[in-house]
Amino acid sequence: MHRPGSGREGEAGFRIGWLGIIVVAIAATGIGSGATLLAMQSTSSPNSKEKAPIQPPAGSHQGSQSKLPFKVPDRSTIPDGPLGEAIRRGEVLVSRTAEELPDHVGNDLHCTSCHLRGGTVPNAAPWVGVAGMFPEYRARAGRVVTLEHRINECFERSMNGKALDPDSPEMTAIVAYITWLSRDVPGGKEVEGRGFLKIQNPPKPNRERGKQIYAQ
Ligand code: HEC
Repeated sequence: MHRPGSGREGEAGFRIGWLGIIVVAIAATGIGSGATLLAMQSTSSPNSKEKAPIQPPAGSHQGSQSKLPFKVPDRSTIPDGPLGEAIRRGEVLVSRTAEELPDHVGNDLHCTSCHLRGGTVPNAAPWVGVAGMFPEYRARAGRVVTLEHRINECFERSMNGKALDPDSPEMTAIVAYITWLSRDVPGGKEVEGRGFLKIQNPPKPNRERGKQIYAQ
């Protein structure tokens, strides 16, 4: 590379020197962004996913931010009086939904057919801590939904039934129950075990291996 010297020659050398630096800088930026692009491609390639099997899929509840430990509140914390009655009523409604709300359930399911043991089992779509997560933006609905709306989505889709009036005593009772389950969780804080466990890259079926195992 030319070094800035003295006199006319030096001045020309000085110019060429700067030009060289600029060219090198542009080239380096080009290489730099190329490398970034490569890095981005490699993180989104299926290979890198195979290397990280526990990586949660986008849009799942299993993000990387710190979560609170899963803890079901003690039953003794259900208050006396009308609120306690609503919580208990909600618990009955979610576990005997088909019988209690036949006009709103189009199959034989109860909420607890999917939300196991009254919504108290981690990774089985529990309701512990869920009350404080709503309102929440739901990409599927394309809008921000309240807990009542989210429950009605399950009535309409999962239960093949009809939505409850959000102001009805039944919806109030279900919300009271879910809110009681969430009583120890500050609003907006996510608890471990929300949603269902996502199985990443399940093993591929292998007929030969299956035959061997079957024969054993
Ligand atoms: C056929 C299975 C099924 C039934 C029955 C069902 N749900 Fe759901 N529910 C789901 C699934 C699946 C999700 C989504 C879980 C996830 O986000 O990973 C869900 C999500 C929810 C959520 C949001 C949970 C969260 O973490 O954001 C609530 C609240 C809820 N259901 C309430 C109910 C109530 C109340 C009933 C009964 C009226 C009910 N569900 C019946 C399958 C069901």
